[in-house]
Amino acid sequence: MKAVVLNGITPADQVKLTEVPIPQVKPGWVLVKVRAFGMNHSEQVLRLSEIEAPYIQKPVIPGIECVGEIADPSDSGWKVGQKVVALMGGMGRSFDGSYAEYALLPAHHVFPVDTDLPWDALAAVPETWFTAWGSLFECLRLRPEDTLLIRGATCALGYAAIQIAKALGCRVVATTHREAKLPLLSEADEAVLDDGRLTGRVHGVNRALDLVGPRFLKDTLTAVEKGGIVCNTGILGGVFTLNDFDPIKDIPNGVYLTGFFSNYPAQHVMDAIFSFLKEHRLMPRYGRQYAFHELPIACEALDSGNVNGKIVITV
Ligand SMILES: NC(=O)c1ccc[n+]([C@@H]2O[C@H](COP(=O)([O-])OP(=O)(O)OC[C@H]3O[C@@H](n4cnc5c(N)ncnc54)[C@H](OP(=O)(O)O)[C@@H]3O)[C@@H](O)[C@H]2O)c1
Repeated sequence: MKAVVLNGITPADQVKLTEVPIPQVKPGWVLVKVRAFGMNHSEQVLRLSEIEAPYIQKPVIPGIECVGEIADPSDSGWKVGQKVVALMGGMGRSFDGSYAEYALLPAHHVFPVDTDLPWDALAAVPETWFTAWGSLFECLRLRPEDTLLIRGATCALGYAAIQIAKALGCRVVATTHREAKLPLLSEADEAVLDDGRLTGRVHGVNRALDLVGPRFLKDTLTAVEKGGIVCNTGILGGVFTLNDFDPIKDIPNGVYLTGFFSNYPAQHVMDAIFSFLKEHRLMPRYGRQYAFHELPIACEALDSGNVNGKIVITV
């Protein structure tokens, strides 16, 4: 089969497809014929720096998610041809991932799905929708009557969160740090240019999904109303931790702070996502599609950061 295999730091212009054996199944692991996959910022980080870390298997096939069909069910009990999505749990880091025609994956991170979505749209779902879903429902306990602020909304996760919250019936205030991108947020009720200070500039917000993260999180905490919940899910601001954070003074009285980590996907959440997509007749948005042989160009597009939304590869 063809795959991208990384052995060290690899700029996009050095990414290439090579021929490797199709992996053999073992107990607890299933072989998935990859039909499509979404690309992620974390794969860029892996390729450009994280690959040197001792916990990364080397050589490694990157790719933290995919959609496809069971090619060999091993001892899982699933049928050959079962449509599945797979994500996370070390995929593309501690074992080979999805930048390949086949992927050998632990059955507990593979989820059968019942959907008619085409492969390209389906590929936009696993990591992005699971993260948006968990942030909005498990963490923010989002309800139709809520006003949701999405800080840093011009990213795959932001667009998915807008789709979900609007379908639910919420009022959505979405921000971007680039004036030119305000029109990309037209699905939201209000699009706001974020100069780092939203406190006093957004009104009636009782739920906030922060995708910019620690860089401006303190401001997000003071931008929501008393009783509001803030979920830190992203790190687009490039700051990863909160230093000198004083929980007594920095979290306003009666405001709640939570965070979401997508490493623990579960079948019941996937089922809820696909029911919601069907019920609301939603077509998951993505930014750009490439064919498998165009993966090197897709990596350049990922690194450039100028695709608006998810990059999807069809195999
Ligand atoms: N917690 C979790 O488990 C989890 C899971 C998945 C993703 N994430 C995180 O969620 C965030 C979004 O992920 P994604 O995959 O949706 O990203 P993505 O689609 O790759 O989006 C990256 C784009 O975000 C834009 N962006 C928007 N606001 C920004 C800001 N304030 N500063 C810098 N860039 C900004 C940038 O474009 P412009 O600068 O042109 O706007 C950049 O091109 C990332 O931080 C990612 O690490 C977290």
